[in-house]
Amino acid sequence: MFDLTGRTALITGAGQNVGAGIARTLSSAGATVLVNDLRAERAEEIAEALAANGVTARALPFDVTDRTAIDEAVAAHGPIDVLVNNAGNGGAEAMLPKKFADTGPDDWRGPMEVNLDGVLHCCHAVLPGMVERGHGRIITISSAAGTHGVGIGFAPYSVGKGGSLSLMRSLALEHGRDGITANSVALGVMDSVRAETAAALTKSIPVGRLGSPDDVGAACLWLASNEAGWVTGQTIGLNGGAFTS
Ligand SMILES: NC(=O)c1ccc[n+]([C@@H]2O[C@H](COP(=O)([O-])OP(=O)(O)OC[C@H]3O[C@@H](n4cnc5c(N)ncnc54)[C@H](O)[C@@H]3O)[C@@H](O)[C@H]2O)c1
Repeated sequence: MFDLTGRTALITGAGQNVGAGIARTLSSAGATVLVNDLRAERAEEIAEALAANGVTARALPFDVTDRTAIDEAVAAHGPIDVLVNNAGNGGAEAMLPKKFADTGPDDWRGPMEVNLDGVLHCCHAVLPGMVERGHGRIITISSAAGTHGVGIGFAPYSVGKGGSLSLMRSLALEHGRDGITANSVALGVMDSVRAETAAALTKSIPVGRLGSPDDVGAACLWLASNEAGWVTGQTIGLNGGAFTS
């Protein structure tokens, strides 16, 4: 039903798992996808696999915290119609082995650099082109950590994820009349979680399973479509019912 033919979508952190799934779904709906990742070889592998299926996909490696690199990539491969801010450092990487009271600025920087600064940079880079063309879709992959908090050690990650969804709300207010929507998708536990913890985590999910990249791709496809033009400034919780709002 949702057709993205003629649209170009940039998906950050699309070298594996959720981002690769989003790239697969958007490309199957007709979008040209630009597969970003910090790791060039992963971006190339995913882009090649998609292109082998007959869609238009290109690798676009850069670090989302490097504003100059983002600007160069957008200038060379734009215009960007759909930006999906997916790059993030969640999971065990995001959990500090201490409570917030025992942390300092050096602990906060890492989790916030990718999850918040990276989103700010990418949005800032694509917005002028979207405003000029009078159309744009910005989707940020956030987390239940950002909407609800998920436990000890996650405070800086939660701030990064919560800040990014606040940015979406602000952009929705500033750019509604420019034809640009900005929304967040806040994920619960995904099926990329370590096998030894999967069973225990699944027990806490009302629908009885972990989330898949295809679940996220489907939500992104809808938000990227013309049909979702009246949806902006929203946070959609994809969590199997584990976090009710
Ligand atoms: N996996 C989960 O259970 C879960 C839960 C809630 C939210 N999320 C969020 O969903 C998103 C995707 O999660 P995932 O599990 O697929 O993550 P992942 O770690 O499997 O993949 C993230 C990708 O982003 C890339 N990346 C990291 N830093 C980057 C940077 N600075 N510039 C460009 N690319 C970079 C990595 O190389 C990797 O390929 C993340 O934003 C994460 O915070 C995940």
